[in-house]
Amino acid sequence: MLILLLFALAPFGGQDGTVPSGLDAAEQVALLLEERCSNCHSPGSDEPKATKHWPNALDLAGTVGNGELILPGNADESNLFLAVLDGDMPPPKSDALALTEPELELLAGWINAGAKVPPPARAVEADPAASQPALLRWISHFHPLIVHFPIALLIVALLAEMLALLRGSESLRGTAKFCLILGALASVPSAGLGWLLAAGTSHPDQPLLLHRWLGVTTAVFALVSVWFTLRRPERRVWFLLVLAILVSATGHTGGELTFGANWFQPPF
Ligand code: HEC
Repeated sequence: MLILLLFALAPFGGQDGTVPSGLDAAEQVALLLEERCSNCHSPGSDEPKATKHWPNALDLAGTVGNGELILPGNADESNLFLAVLDGDMPPPKSDALALTEPELELLAGWINAGAKVPPPARAVEADPAASQPALLRWISHFHPLIVHFPIALLIVALLAEMLALLRGSESLRGTAKFCLILGALASVPSAGLGWLLAAGTSHPDQPLLLHRWLGVTTAVFALVSVWFTLRRPERRVWFLLVLAILVSATGHTGGELTFGANWFQPPF
């Protein structure tokens, strides 16, 4: 258990400093140009004079490729930098904020360091699904369907167990046991199919790893719970409490993978 959890958390440490600072600067420059310049310098703007000189501030690679704008390695001869340095751009009469001293330094530093452009997004890299047999890939698509069985069964097991304790009901106790066993059995294919599904996607590593190891931990712990509580049924409620937490955390991180990191933010 602990080892699995450590595995799950491992990717959160020690990742700082792996991004070369040259590319860091490029990302900041891309953001800066987008915020301050793209209002006029982009295909959607109604400033034909602006786009004639610089068609698209959102396209950093295209901007760097235009020798009229940027001379990599030499900010002092790059018209784009000179235009902001002289205070011509953004036009003082416009609402766009002039660049601050640190922003000018960032821009100059980036150009002088060779005007590197961040690599294209990972989505355009080789499609990982292509290396998986079609049948396996298809079967893996049952993951989102089957996960709802352990989620519901394990939580219902907890409910039944708590009611059984309150009421002293033998039949509710049987229900809890039944739901726990079924939920534990269903958690195994859920985790397995999830593993397969992950092998065919290009989700960012960290959220995926956390979801994967929470899922595996849930399945393993569910099986251990069955094994243990068949011998010691009076402990079942504690196992079910832990399982309810594990299954909720796994479901939540799965939701984040599907709907994005902030999908569960309350509206306040
Ligand atoms: C409010 C609209 C607007 C914004 C915002 C704006 N520009 Fe411009 N830009 C123009 C217009 C209009 C021209 C054409 C000026 C001309 O032809 O006299 C232009 C021309 C330019 C030129 C070529 C002419 C020159 O002066 O060298 C550069 C380079 C340039 N802009 C860079 C930038 C940069 C960098 C930013 C962001 C920091 C920016 N612009 C923001 C409107 C804008």
